Amino acid sequence: MPANSMEQLVALCKRRGFIYASSSLYGGLQGFYDYGPMGVELKKNLQNTWWQDMVYARDDMHGIDSSILNHPKTLHYSGHVDTFCDMMVDCRSCKARWRADHEEKGCCPVCGSKDITEPRPFNLMFQTQLGPLQDGKHIAYLRPETAQGIFTNFKNVVDSQSPKLPFGIAQSGKAFRNEITPRNFIFRVREFEQMEIEYFVPPELDTKWHDYWIEERIRWWHAQGLSPERLLVERQNADDLSHYAKATTDLIYAFPHGNEELEGIANRTDYDLGSHSKDQQELSIQANVQENHDSTQRMAIQDPQSKSWQVPYVIEPSCGVDRGVLAILTEAYHEEPLADGKSRVVLQLPPHLAPVKVAIIPLAKNKPDLVNLARSIRQKLQKALRLHIVLENSGNIGKNYRRHDEIGTPCCVTVDFDSLQETTTDVDLVNTVTVRDRDSLSQTRISIDTLASYLQSTYFDYDFTPASFSIL
Ligand code: GAP
Repeated sequence: MPANSMEQLVALCKRRGFIYASSSLYGGLQGFYDYGPMGVELKKNLQNTWWQDMVYARDDMHGIDSSILNHPKTLHYSGHVDTFCDMMVDCRSCKARWRADHEEKGCCPVCGSKDITEPRPFNLMFQTQLGPLQDGKHIAYLRPETAQGIFTNFKNVVDSQSPKLPFGIAQSGKAFRNEITPRNFIFRVREFEQMEIEYFVPPELDTKWHDYWIEERIRWWHAQGLSPERLLVERQNADDLSHYAKATTDLIYAFPHGNEELEGIANRTDYDLGSHSKDQQELSIQANVQENHDSTQRMAIQDPQSKSWQVPYVIEPSCGVDRGVLAILTEAYHEEPLADGKSRVVLQLPPHLAPVKVAIIPLAKNKPDLVNLARSIRQKLQKALRLHIVLENSGNIGKNYRRHDEIGTPCCVTVDFDSLQETTTDVDLVNTVTVRDRDSLSQTRISIDTLASYLQSTYFDYDFTPASFSIL
């Protein structure tokens, strides 16, 4: 049974070094979290797996890493300055503010008063000032999505990489939104990370590619361990669509606080390439919009045969890394009764996402022969597997097992006196170790010589192959 309350996850994350409230030393900063030693590994593993599967495993994808501060014109033409708002209401009695769609039965969630204002728009972007002059003329925005950095680099990528349609540009990195009511742990925060693909397609094939990416992203989340029963697919109503989208399908996950969006897969049409293009901006000048237009580029791609120019449509699979981490933790969390009447918490993470892949544990501390053998096994494995492998030298085997169950280490390797020629009474056990499996608790004796290949084939053969696209 996966985690059924956020409290269980928050407590585990703090106890085992996954996630802490940011600035907790000074009372915390609402909507911000820090990742600890285990959390950073889990998050990086998720991002690296996404990059491997969406960029390296494909022939049609290019990666970029664009700046976090955006030119105000980028966000003006993208529509964010005018429309990237949530509706906000205020309580006239206690001055609390919250998102209108989070309102409960017309009452203030703080004091219960019914004296609340009409909803009004609140722009979610963080603004900052460039350089020393505080004159309001040198503003920039922290990007509210990584996507705009992809659109503004479209021509750079086309000119330098010469891709042919269809192709994608991928980016993963920080995004910032001044959420009115951040809540539910790392689900809705003000600083988060996204993994976004803008996939450029011939306009007449947009629906087919949209369907392709919905399927592809569902398959990928299943490969990250999310169960089909908890990952739902929902097409957005026309009224709920973002200003840029023709159609959007959300992947909804059953988080402990309820069913909510993990990823959106949108058909953004030619909205963004069009609005960052010289031609379209000139049209708006003709329509008497008084702006200082300075995009000099045409965001189009030339057909190599016909030499005609085409503005592609864009399919955008966009997900939050932090929400991915929360979904994976939710799914992996289990509390289990044990044979001795006690119970344990175990994170059943897919091995490729686990923060620590293998823990090497000498059965007793302060025994130099045992510890030296354990250390040399760790070094050998590290070299052979190039994974995060740790040596535990506290001597308390029970505590080590409990800790590694709780951080999701797929297996522990115990080095005992039988592993050593000098101390064993059983010659068959010399140069062997015990591999304890996290989930089944089975213990298997394996020779040190074959340990790396045993671990590789038992735990670390992750595979995800991109599906091919068929136009039937
Ligand atoms: N470029 C499209 C875009 O940004 P979005 O639905 O606003 O679309 C995409 O965001 C994903 O980013 C969401 O599905 C969610 O996983 C994540 N996300 C958005 N706002 C977030 C927040 N305040 N905290 C954490 N993750 C967030």
